[in-house]
Amino acid sequence: MQKKERLDKILSNLGYGSRKDVKGLVKSGSIEINGKVVSDSSIKIDPYSSVIKIEGKTVEYREFIYLMMNKPQGIISSTDDFRDKTVIDLISEEYKAFNPFPVGRLDKDTEGLMVLTNDGQLSHRVLSPKKHVEKVYYAEVEGVVTEEDKLLFNEGVILDDGYKTLPAKLEIMASDNFSKIYLTIEEGKFHQVKRMFLAVGKKVVYLKRMAIGGLRLDESLGLGAYRELTKEEILLIERKGLSE
Ligand code: URA
Repeated sequence: MQKKERLDKILSNLGYGSRKDVKGLVKSGSIEINGKVVSDSSIKIDPYSSVIKIEGKTVEYREFIYLMMNKPQGIISSTDDFRDKTVIDLISEEYKAFNPFPVGRLDKDTEGLMVLTNDGQLSHRVLSPKKHVEKVYYAEVEGVVTEEDKLLFNEGVILDDGYKTLPAKLEIMASDNFSKIYLTIEEGKFHQVKRMFLAVGKKVVYLKRMAIGGLRLDESLGLGAYRELTKEEILLIERKGLSE
């Protein structure tokens, strides 16, 4: 059985304004529950089994939201920042009402797949080092990335703080003076991709995350654009989570 909650709290959490705003809607006779006009904004209802209508339109109840964003450069992947714009600043009020946060971090100058949710458990499972959720990055690197780098990455490289990375898969797409590669890693240390290349004497000059678990960035999303994940996509993020 689902827990009952106050109507004003439910609607406020869904982005229909403050509790006072909801009271106003109730007063004007705009809210119906299971076909009956409501007169008290503090009544307790089960939001899953009740049909809530506001001005005749059915309210879709949900507790969690899951968004995929193509993060642009120059944007911080946190909920607030005193100086720069954050990924939360890019989303609409409708979604902000759910208090989402980014799942993991991308550097300010990194682009690509960012998942935003208010589902702390999903975030925990994706970020847990025990789950080994794969992250795929596309990078452009100054210098020639070699077959030897591939072997080194496959064994794990020692970062500047002495940490030895888990085996990572390096695919070289082009390697002139300037190399284009894909790197798959199962962990998420601070600046990991950049520091792995520094460990082999090379500099990442462009970085974009392409995938998390089985979830791939929807390339039709322009920089800064976002959309909700489908049910199938939510399951895809947790490749390991599914089997445990
Ligand atoms: N590795 C990095 O170096 N930066 C990122 O933003 C993500 C992974």
